[in-house]
Amino acid sequence: MNFVSECLGVNDAGRLTVGGADAALIAREFGTPVYIMDEDQIRKNCRAYTGAMARHYPGKWAVAYASKAFACKQMYRIVNEEGLMTDVASGGELFTALKGGMPPEGIFFHGNNKTEEELRYAIKTGIRRIVANGTEELERVSRVAGETGRTASVSLRLSPGVTVDTHAALQTGKLDSKFGVPVETGAALEAVKLALSFDNIKLEGIHCHLGSPVYQTEPYTEAVDVMTAFMARVRDELGYPCRELNLGGGYAVRYLPGQTVVPVAAYAAVIAGAVKDAAARHGLPLPELVIEPGRGIAADAGITVYTVGSVKAIPGVRTYLSVDGGMTDNPRYMLYGAKYDIILPERALESKTETVALAGRCCESELLGIDMKAPPAAAGDLLAVLNTGAYNYAMASNYNRIPRPPVVMVRGGKPFVAVRRETWEDVCSLDC
Ligand code: LLP
Repeated sequence: MNFVSECLGVNDAGRLTVGGADAALIAREFGTPVYIMDEDQIRKNCRAYTGAMARHYPGKWAVAYASKAFACKQMYRIVNEEGLMTDVASGGELFTALKGGMPPEGIFFHGNNKTEEELRYAIKTGIRRIVANGTEELERVSRVAGETGRTASVSLRLSPGVTVDTHAALQTGKLDSKFGVPVETGAALEAVKLALSFDNIKLEGIHCHLGSPVYQTEPYTEAVDVMTAFMARVRDELGYPCRELNLGGGYAVRYLPGQTVVPVAAYAAVIAGAVKDAAARHGLPLPELVIEPGRGIAADAGITVYTVGSVKAIPGVRTYLSVDGGMTDNPRYMLYGAKYDIILPERALESKTETVALAGRCCESELLGIDMKAPPAAAGDLLAVLNTGAYNYAMASNYNRIPRPPVVMVRGGKPFVAVRRETWEDVCSLDC
């Protein structure tokens, strides 16, 4: 079978396995919908990134897992054990990371509009970096740090003006974006000046994130050129030695069979090579290089298993397969037109002779995908959507007061619950 993930297989009975465990048995035991994630695959992915950086970059480096892709205590435990740092995008992620045992000195805090409460929490905790998105945030960080009698360790997010070929909502490094201080307008230089003027801020480096998924390497080379030229400029004009360069995430994964993606090692080789060359060209010491893969760590470790509830064939129009989940557990088709591969876990080798629209159960015309190839399915069948480990559980909602599915992880072929299923009680637990 040509699967989109290494952790998927088919056993002798023709049934889908995840990390060696029978996916259908897990679904029958824990109920559907259920996210199943292979811990061993997550660890493999972590090692692919750390191994590639160690091989290709001679300077200091760090891989920070972008935990917006998938966050729970167990996930932070895993990436921490694998020697990764993490990036968080809210106080809630920061709280979870600390609960999961992530050391504060391994945490980067992102976001274009962090609240004072979040900044206070981050500064008191003594996290590695607050990545400031602009001048107001620098001022806020400096004030909050002053109030708590600390110095905040800060990196400045820049907008390098690089447009990547992805959904418009996922392009974050172009000039027309809420993220980062633009380099090309001169605003970035002014922001560095401002940051250097604050007593309660220690400016440690610069950051950018181009968007995701980025299926080519060229945008990273372009970003390295812009960012290193900026490092040379602040050295020359402000006498500021910028020592950390964080290039963000966006490294693509395979969502469909046959799709080609840049291997992790190739991303690392291109980025490390570009940074080395540019540093030599500008006479800069090698910066500490940080990358922030999110989906590259989590996506291909996960699948979602549903139960088919109905098959509505409208002759000459379309066949709707309805499952017991929907945009509440995977909003990515509705948001970005994201494409996924599907399989029937109990008949994993069966030919995909049908074309279906995979419908959810929410009370609107919502889909998980359209024109998807599937074997003939009937009510009661299990159906798996593959490579849902990133931005699925993380973006799940309680729309229609639907409880969120559990996350069952598999380690060494054995399942265990990493996040339990929500109940109707949970769903109304905040109502006063
Ligand atoms: N670093 C920063 C600062 C980011 O904003 C992001 C993603 C990443 C790293 C990781 O990107 P990744 O390696 O996972 O592609 N909900 C969307 C993705 C939004 C990503 C936002 N930032 C989706 O479902 O595709």
